[in-house]
Amino acid sequence: MENAGSRVDVRLGDRSYCVRIGSGLLDALGGFLKQDDFPPVCAVITDSNVGPLYAPRALAGLAAAGFQPVRFDVPAGEPSKSLAQAGELCERMIGAGLDRHAFVVALGGGVVGDLAGFVAAIYFRGIPYVQVPTTIVSQVDSAVGGKTGVNAAQGKNLIGAFHQPRLVVADVETLRSLPAREFNEGCAEIVKHAIIRDRALFDSLETFDRADSAALSTLIARNVAIKAAIVAADEHETTGERALLNFGHTVGHGIEAAAGYGKFLHGEAVSLGIVAACILSMKKAGLASAENDAILARLRQFGLPTRLPAEVSTEAVLTALRADKKFAAGRVRFVLCPRIGEAFVSKDVRMEEIRETVEALR
Ligand code: GLY
Repeated sequence: MENAGSRVDVRLGDRSYCVRIGSGLLDALGGFLKQDDFPPVCAVITDSNVGPLYAPRALAGLAAAGFQPVRFDVPAGEPSKSLAQAGELCERMIGAGLDRHAFVVALGGGVVGDLAGFVAAIYFRGIPYVQVPTTIVSQVDSAVGGKTGVNAAQGKNLIGAFHQPRLVVADVETLRSLPAREFNEGCAEIVKHAIIRDRALFDSLETFDRADSAALSTLIARNVAIKAAIVAADEHETTGERALLNFGHTVGHGIEAAAGYGKFLHGEAVSLGIVAACILSMKKAGLASAENDAILARLRQFGLPTRLPAEVSTEAVLTALRADKKFAAGRVRFVLCPRIGEAFVSKDVRMEEIRETVEALR
């Protein structure tokens, strides 16, 4: 195959799969699937933003490789991550004659990936799927690792299933069409990976040039490798290792819900959550204030927020946070960082300390 990009393997025994990262890979999608012996019929699930941009190319490539793709669009945005939308998609797919021999291609960002992955997990009790992520958040995080699901009225991602994709194809050229704000929000997950795992990556971000396609591919691949190693070590988030990926997400999810979905992009809320986690890490894990300052500088470099606006009340954040599934068992499990490149899960963070930290974000 002419353009195979670089490759990171997610090692999960007989459910292992590979992530391909590079420029122009959308055109190679059909070829990859043919190599991997996928069945002929597939549902390409996309949204009203990504579909018009990339679905015609993806479908043409699939058809040229002998597949019979059927396209299903959903409205762009977080409200599509719902049980109702998942049910509607399943019924549209049944109506189009797709059976248990079909597979799903998720073409889009995190919402499409989580929703389409969930549909694949439940359709005819589970069919294979392929992630084709088109945003930074989805390329470096959500498309890899098999977490699929939708939101409940009470909170994000409360309904879902672990269902690993059979292949992930990340075409970094699709990131070029992202508005600056969406590009930047994805960088919050990159900063997170660097903080919890990779000091050298953290240092390299200072000089990162987003216009350089090769540098972008290398950066995405390095982040996928971090995510793949963590998923391989703790697929179902039972040992505490995968929970490290929640760094910044506890308070971040609370802020996202309290502000009302749409006010902050996910990565922007995560940025604020990272700032909160760093304040707590200085207090409880010995994070040096110079390291905290370096993290703030990196977030600001990507245009990410580091201060919580007054209109988002602390009480609303705490209420949303209590509904978070990380708190479901009544225990607070909070990821702290003692130094850049390392993190651990602490059971020693009290709700009162989180309240003080949210206040300190103002
Ligand atoms: N995004 C967090 C995880 O995949 O575990």
